[in-house]
Amino acid sequence: MQNPDIRKITNFDEFPAAKILKLMRQCMPHIDHDLEVLKWQYFNTPNGNANLYYIENNNEIISFFAMVCHRIRVGNDLIVARSAQDVMTHADFRGLGHLHVLGRIARESILAAGEIGITFPNQNSERSFRRNGWIELCQVPVRQKYLFEEEITRRTKDQGFVIKAVDISLLKSKKSIWQETDFYLGFNRDNNYLQWRYSKPKQVYMSFIIGDDMGFIVVKIFESLDGKILHICEFFLKQKRDEAVAAALDFVGTLATQWGCYKITAWLTPDHRYAKAFGDFGLKLQYTSRFIFITGNETILDKINKAGAWHFSQGDSDVY
Ligand SMILES: CC(C)(COP(=O)(O)OP(=O)(O)OC[C@H]1O[C@@H](n2cnc3c(N)ncnc32)[C@H](O)[C@@H]1OP(=O)(O)O)[C@@H](O)C(=O)NCCC(=O)NCCS
Repeated sequence: MQNPDIRKITNFDEFPAAKILKLMRQCMPHIDHDLEVLKWQYFNTPNGNANLYYIENNNEIISFFAMVCHRIRVGNDLIVARSAQDVMTHADFRGLGHLHVLGRIARESILAAGEIGITFPNQNSERSFRRNGWIELCQVPVRQKYLFEEEITRRTKDQGFVIKAVDISLLKSKKSIWQETDFYLGFNRDNNYLQWRYSKPKQVYMSFIIGDDMGFIVVKIFESLDGKILHICEFFLKQKRDEAVAAALDFVGTLATQWGCYKITAWLTPDHRYAKAFGDFGLKLQYTSRFIFITGNETILDKINKAGAWHFSQGDSDVY
C-alpha cells in the first residue's frame, strides 16, 4: 500500500468501535476485548482522552495504535504522559511498515506537545519502538515469591497498626497518601487515578489502607492454569512510615495464603527504597526479556531516564 489512509481520533463520538473490536479479535484472540473496557481505557482516565491512530483499507481498520493519557510525577511536577497500548496490524497486512508509521506519528505528537511516552511492549512490537527512537529504561522489574504456608506469620498486630479493607470509591479526592510517598518518578497515583484504575470493568480488586492513612495496597487474585496468583497492583507508604513495609508485606503474604494462592507477584525496581524489604520477604527479581521504554524531548528524557528513581507497580500495566 503506497499511501495508507491514516486517521487520528481523540473523542468517543468518533470512535469506530465495531471495526476496532473486529481487528482486536483477529490480532489478539486470547484477550476478551469489549467496548466497555475500551471506553474505560481510552476515554475515562482522569487525565484526558487517548490519542488513537489507525489505518483504513477498503472500509476496514487494518492497523491500530493507542496512546492512553496519564500524568507522571517528575519531582514536584506533573507531566502529561501517553502510554502506548494495543498496537496491532491485521495478519494480512503485516511487514508493510504500518506499525512503524503509526508509531512514528504518535511519537512526533508526544515530542511536539512536550509529553512523556511510556510503554511495556511485548516482543512482537518491541523492535518497532526501538526503530522509532524510544529508549530502553530498564527490564520490567518482575518479582515473585512462591508461598509455603508455614513461612507466613502475621506480625502486623505487633507493629501497633492494623490494615483495613477499604472501598476505593470512597477515598477522599483531595487527601492522598501518594503525595507523601515522595517517590521522584511514577504514574501519579492520586485518588482520582486509583479510583479510575481499579474500576476496570469485569475485574475484582481488593484495596487496603495501612494504619491511619500510612499506606495503601491493592491486590488482584488471578486464577492461572497452575493455581491462584496474588498480584500486588499497588503498594506504597508515606515516606516517613517506611518502617512498616515489612509488616505490610507480611499482611499480603497472609492474605495470599488465606485465598489459597501458590504465588505472589509484584513489580519493583532493584534500586527502589523497598527493594531490601521485598527481597527479605522473598519477592525476588526474575529474569525477563521484556523492557520498559520511554520517549520525550531531550529536557524531559534528562529527568526521567533514571530507572532507579521510578516507582513502578503491576497496576501501571493494563494487563492486570
Ligand atoms: C506486532 C505487529 C503490530 C507488527 O505490525 P506491522 O504493521 O506488521 O509492523 P511493521 O510492518 O511496522 O514491522 C514489521 C516488520 O516489517 C519490517 N519493517 C517494516 N517497516 C520497517 C521500517 N520502516 N524499517 C525497518 N523495518 C521495517 C521489520 O522487519 C519489522 O519486523 P520487526 O519489527 O520484527 O523487526 C503485528 O505483528 C501484530 O499485530 N501482532 C499481533 C498483536 C501484537 O502482538 N501486538 C503487539 C503488542 S500490543
